[in-house]
Amino acid sequence: MIRQTLLIGLMILFLTAQAGWAADGAKLYAEKCAACHGAKGEGGPTGPALKGNPFITRGKPVDIKKVLLEGRQGPDKKYPNIPVGMPKGLVSDAEADALVKHMQGDLQK
Ligand code: HEC
Repeated sequence: MIRQTLLIGLMILFLTAQAGWAADGAKLYAEKCAACHGAKGEGGPTGPALKGNPFITRGKPVDIKKVLLEGRQGPDKKYPNIPVGMPKGLVSDAEADALVKHMQGDLQK
């Protein structure tokens, strides 16, 4: 009986953790990224489009995550027509994982 209760408890934990994970990416994006990259990742004067961007759709999660954690400024910049750079340190390691998932998933829909 105790074992069963434990097992069910674990399953609930696991399921809610997964749901929270998926929701987090979208929430984080809206809070920390949409201002520069557009609500739907369409891009704008302060950030390149992320929707339909091959760096996102075909890139490796580890490369995308690196940009989120380290930013991209100065001589490393890829978009010279955008006057600002990608700030570093906006998100934690776990948040970056959730954001990469969101950008490669729901944001592309
Ligand atoms: C202050 C505006 C700003 C904010 C806020 C911002 N970005 Fe950026 N981001 C940029 C700019 C500008 C670039 C392009 C830098 C360059 O020229 O390479 C960029 C680049 C990127 C890239 C690489 C795109 C590519 O094609 O190489 C990704 C991925 C990205 N941002 C994701 C995010 C995420 C996720 C967030 C939220 C945590 C975020 N950005 C917040 C401005 C911003």
